[in-house]
Amino acid sequence: MPLNIAMDGPVGAGKSSIAAEVARRLGILHLDTGAMYRAIGLTALRRGVDVTDEAAAVALSRELDISVAHEADGQHTFVNGEDVTGLIRTPEVSMAASSISKYLGVRQGMVALQQKLAAQTPMLVDGRDICLRVLPGATVKLYLTASAEERARRRWLEMQQKGASDTYEQVLEDLKKRDDQDMNREVDPLRPTEDAVIVDSTEMNFEQVVEYILAIVKEKTA
Ligand code: DC
Repeated sequence: MPLNIAMDGPVGAGKSSIAAEVARRLGILHLDTGAMYRAIGLTALRRGVDVTDEAAAVALSRELDISVAHEADGQHTFVNGEDVTGLIRTPEVSMAASSISKYLGVRQGMVALQQKLAAQTPMLVDGRDICLRVLPGATVKLYLTASAEERARRRWLEMQQKGASDTYEQVLEDLKKRDDQDMNREVDPLRPTEDAVIVDSTEMNFEQVVEYILAIVKEKTA
């Protein structure tokens, strides 16, 4: 079985950027599973599919061909062959992704696809249900978190750099709403599994988190 590292965590814990850097240094691929749910969320918005309608959301997800490719600048995510990587990071798509990811029928398809990808090649997979559902047998299991205020502060700074006008309070409120939706859904809600190492990055900078995780990986794979 190829080396699999599972990483879960809430909104804005820095999962994607940390996971990308850890995977780069280990010379393995990084699979961002959130991007796959975002791709479905984006398509629901584009087609006017009501994300509170479970049957409609599940039908949409079954009809779509979601795929990823790993390129020099990281993961690209595709819907029916269209590269949607640049379109899936808006607040609207974040909320739509969180909404459609509540449904078992949506999750089953995504989990199967993610398991297939991770069985083929060494990979660090990040998401919400990776330790529990996607890779229960992963060599290394991590739960990356930070206080809601710190996560919102980081997200707000990132958005400001991109020219967004959202206030810190708005970002914090959105983040808490999505946390609530992801942590309290019925199917595989986000929570640390007992065998996951909890990495609280509230007081750590990017490099410290990366070094800390690399040390855990080294220990677990020794
Ligand atoms: O990690 P992210 O913020 O890009 O994820 C977007 C949404 O997708 C998130 O709010 C919940 C959902 N998601 C999920 O349910 N399971 C995953 N493995 C990854 C993401």
